[in-house]
Amino acid sequence: MQKLIVANWKSNPKRLSAAVRLARLSDKKGAVIAPPYVYIEAISRILRHAALGAQDVFFEDGGAHTGEIGVSQLKNLGVEYVIIGHSERRALGETDAVVNKKLMRALKSGMHAILCVGEQSSVRRLGVTAAKQFVRRQLNADLTHIPKLLLKRLIVAYEPVWAIGTGEADAPEKSVEIITTIKATLLKKGIRSPKVLYGGSVTSRNAEQFLSRAEIDGALVGGASLKPSEFRKILMHR
Ligand code: PGA
Repeated sequence: MQKLIVANWKSNPKRLSAAVRLARLSDKKGAVIAPPYVYIEAISRILRHAALGAQDVFFEDGGAHTGEIGVSQLKNLGVEYVIIGHSERRALGETDAVVNKKLMRALKSGMHAILCVGEQSSVRRLGVTAAKQFVRRQLNADLTHIPKLLLKRLIVAYEPVWAIGTGEADAPEKSVEIITTIKATLLKKGIRSPKVLYGGSVTSRNAEQFLSRAEIDGALVGGASLKPSEFRKILMHR
């Protein structure tokens, strides 16, 4: 089965013209492009092959919530995937309770949710077992009370926090070990074929090491997704 390669542009680029150019060069089957909200409409008119994603969504759909974006607004622009619980949002104070509400809302709306989990370096220093315990706890908290029926649209991205944007990707065999634990946790929740991506300093140089593993269903790519030639090389391994 083809793997899913998700481009998380974060708060880049600074101009719409650059975003449009980047989208044209990244428009490949099997890719999900998650631009900043302000570019979603323009990019929805460009993509022919890649799917459209968003980097977050609010847990209420419409109403008096200054600065927030709801699921209907995203869906009506053709957004099919939404990243939830990215560590950069958690670092700003997003709690598991909030992540849980956002997941519930996104999954109920019919969107695919990409839930990010992963441990800090202080945890990984204690070993892979500690990291497994950490992500298991995070998953259980984030998925509380979400009906089994909705979980079939869930995708998990394992992103060790210390590997994000540092150029220091995890060792593929360690990620595989942790991803196997994540899959076991998801299977226990009744998800029949859980999908788990790896994220954290994926580049054209290391992509194959991750994407050639049967346990890893794709990649969540930050920095390298802003460089079209890099991103296209990563896509070749899907
Ligand atoms: P990175 O970011 O590829 O720049 O490490 C990954 C992410 O934050 O999803």
